[in-house]
Parts: sequence; C-alpha cells; structure tokens
Amino acid sequence: MVHHMRLVDFNLIHGDLSKLDYYIDTLGYILREWATPPVLINSEGVVVGNHDVYNALWALGTRLIPVTMDPSELSERVSLSELDFYHEVSSHNPRIYDNVVELVGRDMPTPMVKLKSLSNKNVRVWAKLEWYHPFSLSIKDRVAWYMLKTTLERNMLKSQLIYEATSTNTGLGLVGLANFYGLKTRIYLPSTAQKCVDYVFKAMGADVVRSQADITTKLLKQVLMDAERDNATVLNQFENDLNFIVHLKYTAKEIDYQLSARGVKPRVIVGGIGTSGHLSAIAFYFKNKYRDVEAYGVQPKKGSTIPGIRRIETGMKWIHMVKIDEIIDVSLEEAFQAIIHVARSDGILVGLSSGAVLYATKHLIDNNEIEGDVVVIIPDHGIKYIELLEYLVEKCVETPEEYTERIETRNNK
Ligand SMILES: Cc1ncc(COP(=O)(O)O)c(C=O)c1O
Repeated sequence: MVHHMRLVDFNLIHGDLSKLDYYIDTLGYILREWATPPVLINSEGVVVGNHDVYNALWALGTRLIPVTMDPSELSERVSLSELDFYHEVSSHNPRIYDNVVELVGRDMPTPMVKLKSLSNKNVRVWAKLEWYHPFSLSIKDRVAWYMLKTTLERNMLKSQLIYEATSTNTGLGLVGLANFYGLKTRIYLPSTAQKCVDYVFKAMGADVVRSQADITTKLLKQVLMDAERDNATVLNQFENDLNFIVHLKYTAKEIDYQLSARGVKPRVIVGGIGTSGHLSAIAFYFKNKYRDVEAYGVQPKKGSTIPGIRRIETGMKWIHMVKIDEIIDVSLEEAFQAIIHVARSDGILVGLSSGAVLYATKHLIDNNEIEGDVVVIIPDHGIKYIELLEYLVEKCVETPEEYTERIETRNNK
C-alpha cells in the first residue's frame, strides 16, 4: 500500500460536514498559514482523521485536497496555492451557460471598480458590485443559490414547498431558483420592505405574507411554525452557516483574486450588516490572510430604517465569530447623501444599504481614519428603491417659483 501524501480531486474524498463552530479555528489557521496539513483517509477515500481540515478546505473551496494514509505525515504542510485555490473564481470565461442557475454559480467574479468620488491621493476605494446577479440583482442570490443547491444535493427538501423570511433580496433569489427547479415558495416580508415588491413576488408566482413586524428576524418564529404545519423547508438564512461559507468560498475569494491580479493588498473592508453573512466572512478571510486589515460594519442609526441592514443588537450569528474594528451608525438621510454624491461623480446609482456603506467610508476618509486600498461591498442597485428615490427627488426638486423665492430671500439677507 502507498503511504505517501498526495493531492487528489476534492470530490473523490468523502467526509462528514460539521457545524462551522467546530472548524472555524482551523479555517483561520489555514488562511493565516496559507498552508494546510493533509487529511487522513482510509483505502476507500473516507476521511478518518483531521475532519476539521476536511471541513475547512471544503469551506474554502480548493479543487485539490492533500490526503495521506500514514498518520506520521499529518505534520506535513501543503500551500493553498498548490491546491488550485482560485479555480472557481478565476475568469477566463466566455460567459455562455446551459441554464440560469449557472448565472449565479459560475458567472464569477462580479466586477470591482475604483470609485473616483471617494478616492484621493492616499486612498483608493474599490467597490465590489453585487447587483451583477440574475435573480435579486443583489449579493443575496449567492446565499439563496448556495443554500438551495446544498439542500438539493443532500436530498434534504421536505416537500416541494420553501418558506423564508426576507427583507426582499434573499426572497427574490430563492423564488427565481425555486421556479427553475419547479418548487413553490412562500415569502414572509417585514412591514419595512418596499411597497411594490409584493407585486414582483406575485408576478414570479410566489405567495407573499406581509407582516406587521419591522425586521425579518421577528418573523422567523411564524415562518418555522407555518413550515412545520405545511411540511415546508425553511433554508433559514439567519442560522444557516452556508450563508457565511458562500461568502468565504466565493465573495471574499473573488475579491482577493481580483485585487491580487492588480497587485493590490487591501487595508480596509467596509460592509453593511443584516444577517451579517457577507461582512463576517469577508472580514474573517482578509483578517486571517493579511493580519493588518481593518473591518468596519455599518448599521442603521437608532430610529432609522435602511432596507437590508439592521442594528447589531437585533441579533445576528457570524459577526460574533470575527473581530470587527468598529460598527458605524448611518441614518437613511446620510445614506441618500452618499448615493447622490457617488451617482453624480461616478455615475452609478447604488442601493440604500450601499449608500450607508459609502457614507461610513467617506466619513472614515474625511476624518483621516483610514488610508490605502479600501474595499466596499455594494449589495445592490439604487433603481430597486425607486419608491424611496421619488421621496428623495421630491425633497430636492423645486419649482421655478420656489427657486426664485429662495434666491430672493438669500439676496435680501
Ligand atoms: C440590500 C442589502 N444590503 C445588505 C444586506 C445585508 O447582508 P447580510 O445579510 O449578508 O448581512 C442585505 C441582506 O439581505 C441586503 O438585501
């Protein structure tokens, strides 16, 4: 029998998948070392030792995995670069696909662009544009896709019914994908979700339950009870570790791949927090890989509602697994200000949570609190908030009479 460590296709090795808490320390270790020990397997290719390493490499999405049948080789190390680490996010891609699911699962990476509106001689702001996804036109397609794909692969659907609480975007992702797979969806929306979005869901064929509760987590109990009653599956983006893992395996890795292609090392990450999936995973990845990276989370100011993000005290899972340097409060008005500032200089109209992220970033830059290469995560596009944009325009637009009056008043002062 050959006992030497070798690199094999990950799919040829079989192991149990554990909860994230079980292997998160190993995950951090492997990222920091940029190297991994092998896993111990038996002659059938089943993992019998170093299960945490198996799980960590699964979460990181390497194409190859180092294996050995000799316990004395477990102290050896293999670099992640040798394991074809970036295989899924590298982009020599003619972008033609066999079905819509591949638009999320294979059309990677989403673009990154330097914003001239926020960059200056000391700071370069790189925006990761996450509206480049097909169903929700938001970052949440990734979560819906990965939760559903894994559930289907593991045969864990209870029936043809899927129920989920969502502030909109995860729901749109789920409904699109579920329609493709011939599944039925029921979407539970908080009172704060946009008024017209109910019609979008209905047009897509989903049932919509609109609640009086103002945030998604308050709906969860009802969703779980209804699902139990109707034998429906709840993928549960609030608790499902795949929400963290998909951003580690793809979003964070893409950013790393993209910046590396430019020879750029990030110094700062800024992102909004809802379930906390994306910011936690991206912060975890970069803080472990590069050590001196700072991470800032953005939440709505007390009393302000910004769709998609909420305050940390409303309860979120993954943010507590990573060190966030500061949580910054931003009001809806301030988010609008940043949206307008960037729209009128860079020409892109970002969504409201993105506006909050950009306001916080501008604040940090204006106060000289950050410098170097800054990554900002833009979860979606501003056109989706047209109901609220109208409110903004109403506030800003004035009639010729109002304009004349304002100028005259000023001149008479
Ligand atoms: C527009 C928007 N921004 C930000 C977020 C927050 O992302 P996460 O749930 O990964 O914290 C969401 C989540 O639904 C969102 O829809």
